[in-house]
Amino acid sequence: MTYSTLPKKTITIDKWTLSDIDCLAIGAFSPLSGFMVEDDYLSVVETMRLANGAVWPLPITLGVDEELHGDILPGERVLLRGEDGVNYAILQVESCYRPDKNREAELVFRTTDVAHPGVKKLFEKGNLYVGGPLEVLQRPVPEQFPEYYLTPAQTREIFECNNWKTIVGFQTRNPVHRAHEYIQKAALEIVDGLFLNPLMGETKSDDVPATVRMKSYLALLESYYPPTRVLLAAFPAAMRYAGPREAVFHALVRKNYGCTHFIVGRDHAGVGDYYGTYDAQYIFAEFAPEELGISLLFFEHSFYCNACEGMATTKTCPHEGDQHLTLSGTKVREMLRNGVTPPPQFSRPEVAKILIEGMRERELKG
Ligand code: ADX
Repeated sequence: MTYSTLPKKTITIDKWTLSDIDCLAIGAFSPLSGFMVEDDYLSVVETMRLANGAVWPLPITLGVDEELHGDILPGERVLLRGEDGVNYAILQVESCYRPDKNREAELVFRTTDVAHPGVKKLFEKGNLYVGGPLEVLQRPVPEQFPEYYLTPAQTREIFECNNWKTIVGFQTRNPVHRAHEYIQKAALEIVDGLFLNPLMGETKSDDVPATVRMKSYLALLESYYPPTRVLLAAFPAAMRYAGPREAVFHALVRKNYGCTHFIVGRDHAGVGDYYGTYDAQYIFAEFAPEELGISLLFFEHSFYCNACEGMATTKTCPHEGDQHLTLSGTKVREMLRNGVTPPPQFSRPEVAKILIEGMRERELKG
């Protein structure tokens, strides 16, 4: 596209928005092809469905500063430029509207508490939403591990080449500890392939950075997983911490990547105490299986049991809690920060080593 045909009005977009644009561009958010117009937005917030009835639980919106962009009108084309000065996309504006953010927070996050990272992000967004389809000019170039940024078309092709008929998707924003490994492998026992699809977009500041996690996944896969049964690929989206609604979103997105099954364990996409341990599983009862188009595999809280001498869940282990090894995220972070390796029953030593190194580098950088 030549410069003369680029729209004059320009919106500067942050990394979060850019990750949404990339997901829209590659078809990860299909059937969406742009930022939501008002009808879809209202319908999604109120009913977890697009205006046409298709299940879609999270608003995907572009919020802009009304003072700067109050003159944007439906029918116009607007350039979306990154903070790095790159022109990433053109938005064909179809709808400009002012959301009721309290209502959005209440229904999507089940709280209006700004201590919730997703709610905080929502209230920081611009108060004018502009929606419409996107024309993508350029995809963002990943800073690290570009070879793992596969599109849904590519992952589907790989699944087909591997002759995998059934594939289970695994969402994670954390390093893979033994509990994650246990539920992944339990699922892999009944399907052909595991799609390990860590979220690589923005997360809250105390989550382990994506690049450190990526190194830990590679080390883990090398030593403990059969390479012919696992595909690792980055999910470029940002984390919303919307618990139950985000679990539905994560499942639909993995269907787009070609998965037939999706794992939902304890407090999926949760944060703090905002959601019940299994709320992210219960929410799926609100939809008919054929509307989702992907089978859910639910797992209970998993841990190492000393008496069983193995990994187990509350479903499979008869012993009391004092036999179970469970470490809180805060405790593990503290151990890693102090260079203490968590027990191998909690985390593989290869993973712990990378996390300790990552913590050290982070502290050196300040
Ligand atoms: S999430 O925000 O991406 O859900 P995390 O990476 O910790 O966080 O979890 C990835 C998946 O593993 C989710 O489905 C979550 O429910 C599940 N999970 C995490 N820890 C456990 C555990 N100890 N027992 C059972 N499931 C778990």
